[in-house]
Amino acid sequence: MLILGIETSCDETGLALYHSEQGLLAHALHSQVALHAEYGGVVPELASRDHVRKTLPLLREIFRQANVTPRDVDGVAYTRGPGLIGALLVGAAIGRGLAWTWGVPAIGVHHMEGHLLAPMLEPEPPSFPLVALLVSGGHSLLVRVDGIGRYQLIGESIDDAAGEAFDKTAKLLGLPYPGGPALAKLAEQGDPDRFVFPRPMTDRPGCNFSFSGLKTAAINTWRGLEPTPQNRADVARAFENAVVETMMIKCRRALQATRLRRLVVAGGVGANQRLRERLRELVAELGGQVHYPRLEFCTDNGAMIAYAGWRRLAAGQYDEPAIEVLPRWSLASLPSVN
Ligand code: KG4
Ligand code: ZN
Repeated sequence: MLILGIETSCDETGLALYHSEQGLLAHALHSQVALHAEYGGVVPELASRDHVRKTLPLLREIFRQANVTPRDVDGVAYTRGPGLIGALLVGAAIGRGLAWTWGVPAIGVHHMEGHLLAPMLEPEPPSFPLVALLVSGGHSLLVRVDGIGRYQLIGESIDDAAGEAFDKTAKLLGLPYPGGPALAKLAEQGDPDRFVFPRPMTDRPGCNFSFSGLKTAAINTWRGLEPTPQNRADVARAFENAVVETMMIKCRRALQATRLRRLVVAGGVGANQRLRERLRELVAELGGQVHYPRLEFCTDNGAMIAYAGWRRLAAGQYDEPAIEVLPRWSLASLPSVN
């Protein structure tokens, strides 16, 4: 079974072809970073228009890479949400349109399920049950996963998502969008002992997160400092340490509460090296395993959508065509108003 995956929920156009026996055959990604950089964040309308421009060229590219033709495709998976409405509509309309033309089923995939299943694309995929830490620009979730679609929320952010906190703090420090990776890079030069920010919500039970207070701690510290490169790096390091440490504490709790020892970490912030290291230490201490997607599949991509779509399409699930317009519509058929 060959599945085309289309991801257009935010600022990355991702296309991929996943084969049920041969695995991932091809994937291609276009990042809109350069397009949004001058605005300091994603401009939704620009994002939608760029998805319109890039989806079909990337589609041709993956067919070339995989050396297959549209005739070989058995199903289409596109990101249905959550995400920017205009951006989602582009992928959905193109995905549905292609599926209709090719006479194959299509399914709308949940973006966070895509992230959650991304480690399944690795040579040693995790088995269920497991605990998943899903940390992206829009979400911070801890989920107990007993199978595909068998998700129990254990914890979530009550304010900013982890990636959002990284991005806002980076902006405060004058770093360019997207802030997360830039802040992490800067933190490498920071002194880990100079500032210690709070570990939010670790002093009370539960696995929920809160990151907006950390952002405030960073603002207050930064305001009192000369804007030198070392000061900037020290604040970045304190911020990153606090986020990573907080997530480690919550993951420990989640693993203990569920008595599970398998952890999956995915989503853009899952690309953070310090987070990956600390969680590796945690599961080693608990005698478990941690699974990450390869770095390029931590952030948004088409491969995770193709994979998640395949699992559902292979189980016989699909969506009815939801975008309905009427190319033939008799004026006389309109119902009267009274
Ligand atoms: O999953 P993703 O690509 O898109 C969403 O679904 O939101 O995640 C993007 C988020 C951004 O907030 C970005 O700053 C953050 O992930 N991010 C990182 C790193 N790489 C990406 N945050 C911290 N450290 C990183 N290395
Ligand atoms: Zn994402």
